[in-house]
Amino acid sequence: MAENQEKNELMEKIISLAKRRGFIYQGSEIYGGLSGTWDWGPLGVALKNNVKNLWWRMFVEEREDMYGVDATILMNAKVWEASGHVAGFSDPLVECVKCKRRFRADHIEGDKCPECGGKLGESRQFNMMFKTQIGAMEDSAATSYLRPETAQGIFVNFKNIIDSFHPKLPFGIGQIGKAFRNEITPRDFIFRVRELEQMEVEYFVHPAEWEKYFEMWKNIMWKWIEAIGIDKKNVHEHEIKDGERAHYSKRTIDFEFDYPFGRKELYGLAYRTDYDLRKHSEHSGTSLDYVNEETKEKFIPHVIEPSLGVDRTILAILLDAYSEDELGEGTRVFLKLKPSIAPVKVAVFPLLKNKPELVKKAREVFEMIKKEIPQTMWDDNGNVGKRYRRQDEIGTPFCVTVDFDTLGENPELKDTVTVRDRDTGKQERVGTGELTKMLKGAIL
Ligand code: GAP
Repeated sequence: MAENQEKNELMEKIISLAKRRGFIYQGSEIYGGLSGTWDWGPLGVALKNNVKNLWWRMFVEEREDMYGVDATILMNAKVWEASGHVAGFSDPLVECVKCKRRFRADHIEGDKCPECGGKLGESRQFNMMFKTQIGAMEDSAATSYLRPETAQGIFVNFKNIIDSFHPKLPFGIGQIGKAFRNEITPRDFIFRVRELEQMEVEYFVHPAEWEKYFEMWKNIMWKWIEAIGIDKKNVHEHEIKDGERAHYSKRTIDFEFDYPFGRKELYGLAYRTDYDLRKHSEHSGTSLDYVNEETKEKFIPHVIEPSLGVDRTILAILLDAYSEDELGEGTRVFLKLKPSIAPVKVAVFPLLKNKPELVKKAREVFEMIKKEIPQTMWDDNGNVGKRYRRQDEIGTPFCVTVDFDTLGENPELKDTVTVRDRDTGKQERVGTGELTKMLKGAIL
């Protein structure tokens, strides 16, 4: 019971910190909100961009076998008929006969409404795609959907990439972008939302080699988890059983994270076979065959798909990084973020803000660092102790203070500043000449 309460409190602390410090706000808040939507504030967007940039670097740019795309969110409705989403992208829905609230049938224990105890009606399938109309005509020909996964934007560009770049198998296409799902019960902050972002790779292989590349991507996903600073102890592989996988998958491993509300999916790794390319080839009438130039073998490639949600990544990062200790007076809250993904890397302060000579020197130091490390922040509010607390709470790994010694009060320390480490609270004096280089080295 006490453990449960502590876990609920952790979620509340994260949600409150995220709002108070400008990471994540409720969507449409001044109108009472819109369920399942969250807006990203300045620190949230910086954190999210750092994560996305790192993913793009690791999964696309650093590899020779990867191509990046940015496909549209709106696509021809035939894409979703071919992919099986129109027929099958649904969750089981039940409605309470008494209070009319709706729930995901597979999330409910027992046969009573969890809200009012009323009787639940029959379960039926509810398609989660958001339907919309394209253009001024309101007929079925104008129907389209907001994409529920970025993957299909990759499959429909498979032939374009082959024609433009002539890659040899195996190769992959990566994409980061928004996806939309009309979740029956969005919940748990940014865990289950209706507008989300995905980072996906579709990796095309010879069918005989799918197992080898499934293993390869599994290892890369573990490296990624390490790269974003999530403790591997909190992540677990979960093999999805026959009959429980998505319609296109012959093998799926979920990477599950220990959230305060239970062990649940963080990422998915699926072997999609040739399902998608085959369906698109059949429905569009366009050949999506690959021809091996050397052996002349002609076939539809099979696909390994590591699929990573951005929102769940950020939630796992925040939960993992949230820390409290007794450094200084009272309890200190700090985010133990990996410096490479922290939204603010360095904060620069003048010891006192009413001493023009200190402020002038501190501005010079600030501008010097900011040129090389753009995620550097100026802070002169309150006393230095309060500034440290504020920076700790948003996960800033380094605070640089310009004091009277920097100005030469103690001649031996002229042109040195203090650099304080977030996690230990320890300070060291560093010469301004080597400061930026030292910070850059510690951040990467
Ligand atoms: N293309 C494969 C695919 O979309 P998925 O398991 O449905 O597979 C992949 O989704 C990832 O997208 C999940 O592992 C999760 O990180 C994220 N995701 C899916 N639905 C989500 C939602 N409603 N809210 C937040 N993230 C979600």
